[in-house]
Amino acid sequence: MQNIEHFFNESKKNDKLNTSYPIDKSDWKKYKYEGELKFDESKLCFYIHIPFCQSKCKFCEYVKYVKGDEDLEKQYIEILIKDIQNFIKSHRNIELFGFDIGGGTPLILSDENFKTLLEFVKTEIFSKLKIAKDFEASIEATFFSITEDKIKIINRCGFKRISFGLQTVNRKFLKDNHRGSPSLQRMMQVKHWCKTNGIEKINIDLMYGLNGQSKQDLKNSIATIEYFMPEQVTLYEFRTNILKVKENKTKRQLFKQYEFLYKNLIKLGYCGRFGQNTFSLSKTDLGLSSYIKNRMINNISYKGFGISAQSKSREGVSYNIGKEEIPLEKCLENKTFSSEDTYILPKEERLAKYIAISGYCGQFSIKIMDEILGESSREYFKKQFEFLLKKKYIEIFDDIVFITKRGFVCYGAILSLFYPNKKI
Ligand SMILES: C[S@@+](CC[C@H](N)C(=O)[O-])C[C@H]1O[C@@H](n2cnc3c(N)ncnc32)[C@H](O)[C@@H]1O
Ligand code: SF4
Repeated sequence: MQNIEHFFNESKKNDKLNTSYPIDKSDWKKYKYEGELKFDESKLCFYIHIPFCQSKCKFCEYVKYVKGDEDLEKQYIEILIKDIQNFIKSHRNIELFGFDIGGGTPLILSDENFKTLLEFVKTEIFSKLKIAKDFEASIEATFFSITEDKIKIINRCGFKRISFGLQTVNRKFLKDNHRGSPSLQRMMQVKHWCKTNGIEKINIDLMYGLNGQSKQDLKNSIATIEYFMPEQVTLYEFRTNILKVKENKTKRQLFKQYEFLYKNLIKLGYCGRFGQNTFSLSKTDLGLSSYIKNRMINNISYKGFGISAQSKSREGVSYNIGKEEIPLEKCLENKTFSSEDTYILPKEERLAKYIAISGYCGQFSIKIMDEILGESSREYFKKQFEFLLKKKYIEIFDDIVFITKRGFVCYGAILSLFYPNKKI
């Protein structure tokens, strides 16, 4: 137990411990496999990455290019569609549990390219594959990039959820970070378009922990949420793992900012457990798209299409080309985005990856841990469970491990107790 306590206290100081795993990709070097990741399972989620943006927000950690030549964009969509067709052709009986289009800013595609992509999704994916019961397709947008015509296409092609990035309403911060700020009037107009065109759920992303972000900023974000009242709100703690900017907030300060947002969202009528990043006005959904829910909580395998997208099967993980900021033209030359950057992982690493992914929702399932390990995880991680329960950092209900309010301040250290190669 002393070892655990020591290891845990050291981990608490490590800023790299959040929900990213592996901590460093070189940790997986020995598991590298020369070939494509195989999927023997039929239950899958799909993700499509559209890497184009109006400008590059300085705080953003995703792979993106400033929108430029429409012809390159067209080539991008053509390759994407080919990759998806090839995958579907070589996999039988796919049952789709989730489908997200993200980015980047998918809505920034030209009308024609956007329509081509969404019509393809509707006719070749949603109409042909088996669709699971709780399936709910979702697409990411910004308030600037969306138009009423595109909302009509979104609805017609089977999407009922749109997730908008707001981040903060501090205009100066946004301008300094190369991002515009939508007016409230614009936001309400977009809401009206959504509601008159069949969009059932609007989610808004807010960020906290941003450099220089004050309590007043957070109050202003909450005031905007109160006015707009989206069905769902997602909170993102600023991550700097792959950014040159360094965050300047302590874990305690981050905790306080989260706590403030949490209390106020609950006051506004949103449901969500302390520690969860997603909130919903409905008691029955977790504020997540079915892609995120099934990928994160239920450990359903996922296949990513497009530059930099990640895939995970029962046996490992792979990354598409483009993760390392390669020029767009270079990525297009290949005529496919699927790569051979594949890692076939032992059960300990697959378990760690699951814990990190599910930890995003502040919880993980003992049943899924048992399945991955092929033995009792309560026994395998006996010391870890004893320590975390004794410290009241976790509680367990119906085989689900929940990170408590007390534990949330050091959630990265909690997750890391389940990572391999630690002499505990
Ligand atoms: C894929 S991004 C794109 C969404 C959309 N393009 C936009 O800008 O609103 C999805 C969300 O990730 C979050 N995000 C971006 N950079 C982040 C970072 N460095 N740390 C944590 N969250 C981040 C933002 O809240 C953003 O809305
Ligand atoms: S936050 Fe959104 S708009 Fe800004 S660079 Fe990232 S993906 Fe693009």
